[in-house]
Amino acid sequence: MHKGASLPLPPADALSASAALSAHIGRAIDDAGGWLGFDRYMALALYAPGLGYYSGGAAKFGRDARDGSDFITAPELSPYFARTLARQFAPLLAQGLSQVLEFGAGTGRLAADLLLALEQEGQLPERYAIVELSGELRARQQATLATRAPHLAPRVAWLDTLPEHFEGIVVGNEVLDAMPVRLFARSHGRWLERGVARRDSDADASDAAFGFSDRPVAADALPEALHAVAGDHDIVTETHAEAEGFMRAVGTMLTRGAVFLIDYGFPAAEYYHPQRVGGTLMCHYRHHAHPDPFLYPGLQDITAHVNFSGIAHAAADAGLTVAGFASQARFLMNAGITELLMALDPNDTRNFLPAANAVQKLLSEAEMGELFKVIALTRDFDATLPLAGFARGDRSHAL
Ligand SMILES: C[S@@+](CC[C@H](N)C(=O)[O-])C[C@H]1O[C@@H](n2cnc3c(N)ncnc32)[C@H](O)[C@@H]1O
Repeated sequence: MHKGASLPLPPADALSASAALSAHIGRAIDDAGGWLGFDRYMALALYAPGLGYYSGGAAKFGRDARDGSDFITAPELSPYFARTLARQFAPLLAQGLSQVLEFGAGTGRLAADLLLALEQEGQLPERYAIVELSGELRARQQATLATRAPHLAPRVAWLDTLPEHFEGIVVGNEVLDAMPVRLFARSHGRWLERGVARRDSDADASDAAFGFSDRPVAADALPEALHAVAGDHDIVTETHAEAEGFMRAVGTMLTRGAVFLIDYGFPAAEYYHPQRVGGTLMCHYRHHAHPDPFLYPGLQDITAHVNFSGIAHAAADAGLTVAGFASQARFLMNAGITELLMALDPNDTRNFLPAANAVQKLLSEAEMGELFKVIALTRDFDATLPLAGFARGDRSHAL
C-alpha cells in the first residue's frame, strides 16, 4: 500500500520538488557507500538548499491543512505567547541587556509580536537580530514585520552567522527540536545505529525511496547518553549532538545575558526512561503526526523531542548557569499570561473567547502546557534581575 495513502496527496509541483530532493539524498547515500546516519538524512530532508523542508517552498506553519500547512507553533497560535515573554524580557532590557537575538524565527510572528509588546512596555530593544538558516523563511519574516510592525522593522537585522560575542537576551522557540538527531536501536541487548539506505521498492511493496538500515556500534563508540538506558530490552531512541553543539556555540557567544529556549522534551531520566521504547521521532504533514520520516522527503517536518539535561550540560560546558527550567504552563502563568488575558473584556465574546481558547491550548496539560518546557541559561547575570517565569515550579533540579 502507498505509505501516505491516508494522508492528503501533495500537488504535482511539490511532488516533483520532493523527487528532486530524493535524487539528491540518493546520491549522498551512494557517495557515502550506501548508508547515511539518520542525522545526515534529517539534515538533508530539512535543510538541503532550495529543496529541504525548511529551505524549500512548503507552507509549514498554519492553523489547519486547508492552507497547506503542517503544524502550528505557540507564537502562531496566540499573540499572548509573545506578550507574556515580553513581560519576562522587559525588566531585563530595563537593566541594560539591550539587544535580543532570535534563532529560527519561523514566519516572524514572535519577532513582530514581541517587539510590539516591548514597545508597549516602554522597553524596546536597540536591535532585534535573527539567525535563520532558511532563505525562504527569512523573506517571510521580512514580510510579516513589514505588515504587523512596519515602524519597528528597521530595528530588525538578519545575521548570516553567529556573532562572535553577544550581550543581551537570546530566544528560540521550537528550534532545538528541528535539529538533526542520530537514531539508535538496542536489539537483543546489542546497540545498533539506525541509519538510512536506499530501498528496493519492488521487494517490500512500498513506494518510499529510502528505509532504515541498522549497523552495529562498538561499545566505545556509543554516545554517553545511552549508557543511562537501563535494562537490556529492545528500544529505539535518539541522541542530540547537533543541538548540544549549538548550545555550546551559543554559550560561547554569550558574554553577558540570558538564553530562553522553549521546546517539547524532558530531562534525561524521563527521555531515556526504559519504558519509552519507541523514541520520540515524529513527522508532521498537513497537521497529521506520524512516525515515517521517508514519506515525501522535503514536504514534511521531521522532529525529535529535546533532552533538556543534554542542553543544560552543554550550556554548562560553555560556562553558562541554568537559571530556570519549568513547564511552559508554569512559566507563562508565572510571567503573567492570565493577567494579560484578564485585561480583555470577557463580555466581548468575539475577542475574548478565541483569545482564551488559544491561551488554554498554551497552558493545558493535554496540549502544550506540560510537554513543552522553558529553560533559561545565563552568564554574568545579576542574580537580583527577576526571572519571574521560574518563581514557582522551577524543575532545574530534575536536569
Ligand atoms: C519548528 S520551526 C519553529 C519556528 C518558529 N520559532 C516558531 O516557533 O514558529 C524551526 C525553525 O528553526 C530553524 N532552525 C533550525 N536549526 C537552526 C539553527 N541552527 N540556527 C537557526 N535556526 C535554525 C528552522 O529554519 C526553522 O525556522
